[in-house]
Amino acid sequence: MSKLSVKINEQEKSYPIIINDNPVSTLKDAIFSRLEGKKFLVVISEKVEKLYGKALGFEKTEKFILKDGEKEKNFKNYKKILERALKLQLTRKDTIIAIGGGVVGDLAGFAAATYMRGINFIQVPTTLLACVDSSVGGKTGIDTSFGKNLIGSFYQPSAVFINTNFLQTLDDRQFKTGMGEVVKYAFIEKSCRSEEELNLTNFLTENTEKILTRNLRTLESLIEICVKLKISVVQKDEKESGLRKILNFGHTYGHAVEKFTNYKKYTHGEAIVKGMEFAFNLAVKRNIIDKNYKFFANDVIKKFGFKSIPDYPIEKLIKLMKMDKKAEFEYITFILPTDYSEVAEFKFTEKDLL
Ligand code: GLY
Repeated sequence: MSKLSVKINEQEKSYPIIINDNPVSTLKDAIFSRLEGKKFLVVISEKVEKLYGKALGFEKTEKFILKDGEKEKNFKNYKKILERALKLQLTRKDTIIAIGGGVVGDLAGFAAATYMRGINFIQVPTTLLACVDSSVGGKTGIDTSFGKNLIGSFYQPSAVFINTNFLQTLDDRQFKTGMGEVVKYAFIEKSCRSEEELNLTNFLTENTEKILTRNLRTLESLIEICVKLKISVVQKDEKESGLRKILNFGHTYGHAVEKFTNYKKYTHGEAIVKGMEFAFNLAVKRNIIDKNYKFFANDVIKKFGFKSIPDYPIEKLIKLMKMDKKAEFEYITFILPTDYSEVAEFKFTEKDLL
């Protein structure tokens, strides 16, 4: 078991992240030990409810069960959660608890951020992607027809409970989508400016088999490394005004691929792996890195057997990249590799890219 802590704005927004493989049935007590008020609302993914509802032990009246899929991260469900919270008469001291993947965490987090101008929020991520990325750092939000996460807020949870048992029942694609974000941390590690040398690339190459067979202890160590890197970044830049942008490595192109294929064909992780490959190619073309680093990176990526994505027409992807939240005027921003495990921000015009 490990207990990490996030310190944002000195102590003001600090919270613990507890990582372990204790039986799922022990989670409720652990969560209760972090409640301030008496009341709470659990927002839980339908899949997780089916598999673990009994072991978790929450009453039906305490739960809002959310169907699975990105399309559920919408206004309608946001409103429904707020109405349930109002019906339960939650006060500011009470808590919204998210149990599920990124969709549940983002949606429940946004409800928590805005209900009574902000109530306690606890994250229990149950997918690898949510464990290593979305449950830490306070990004919350919902999607609209104009795009993903365009409405949201930065709102830090009061605790995050990561239990690796949930990862045993993820389907292979779900697991691999999380691995996409994990591999990303390996390529940005030095730029995360963690005080500790974590050497994720070595960990990935030395433990590939154990990761893919989901050895509980290996997953715990893997998540711990990624969370430490993410903590290091968000502590330095909570609101993404500088350093935090490096977490978008692979995302400019990856988001465009997701949009171009209507979010149906590929998972987020698969798309950002393609985005990282694009970034490595671009960096070689611009003489930012040499070819050997690109080949090395491709070998690391290959170990995890991500679904391969074809090259879609660049003109169409550029159009979508220009609509990205990260785009500024005529520039498209990319995080590109500059050296082993180091990245930096670069801006290109459409003409440059073509
Ligand atoms: N998912 C990227 C971030 O939290 O900034």
